[in-house]
Amino acid sequence: MPDETLDLPVLQRVLEHHRNTPGALLPILHAIQAGTGYVPDAAVPEIAHALNLSQAEVRGVISFYHDFRSTPPARHTLRLCRAESCQSRGAEALAAQLREQLGLDDHGTSADGALSLRPVYCLGACACSPALELDGQVHARLTPERLRALVEGCLQEVKPC
Ligand code: FES
Repeated sequence: MPDETLDLPVLQRVLEHHRNTPGALLPILHAIQAGTGYVPDAAVPEIAHALNLSQAEVRGVISFYHDFRSTPPARHTLRLCRAESCQSRGAEALAAQLREQLGLDDHGTSADGALSLRPVYCLGACACSPALELDGQVHARLTPERLRALVEGCLQEVKPC
């Protein structure tokens, strides 16, 4: 079944733009994800053919790097910092709270597509740890109550029709 989100003209432009780029696979994957929000599986054969790679090699790179997605992104992305400063200020307990509240582990996405969890290793807010990034905005000096409120805010939004 064809992937309706695969925009072939866009894909061809990306492939053509990087035709002579050494180590083009990562820039191509980044460009596709920037435009589409993820790397559709239907793009893999085209990418593999353009770079003279096997489809397994392309899929291996997509799955190796957690920042690449092969499914559409959730409406919200929450990245809880797990580096040293945040760890020492309770990040692991906050991660456990997220697992309990959402029933998700790191890299998980809620079944309704509302929220994805991604670990991150330092947001540059160490002096105000523990910290997280929600949809690109940093929230620091987290408490369990603030984290719960942020997550509930994401989950309670009206879903688009
Ligand atoms: S260690 Fe978490 S923001 Fe730096």
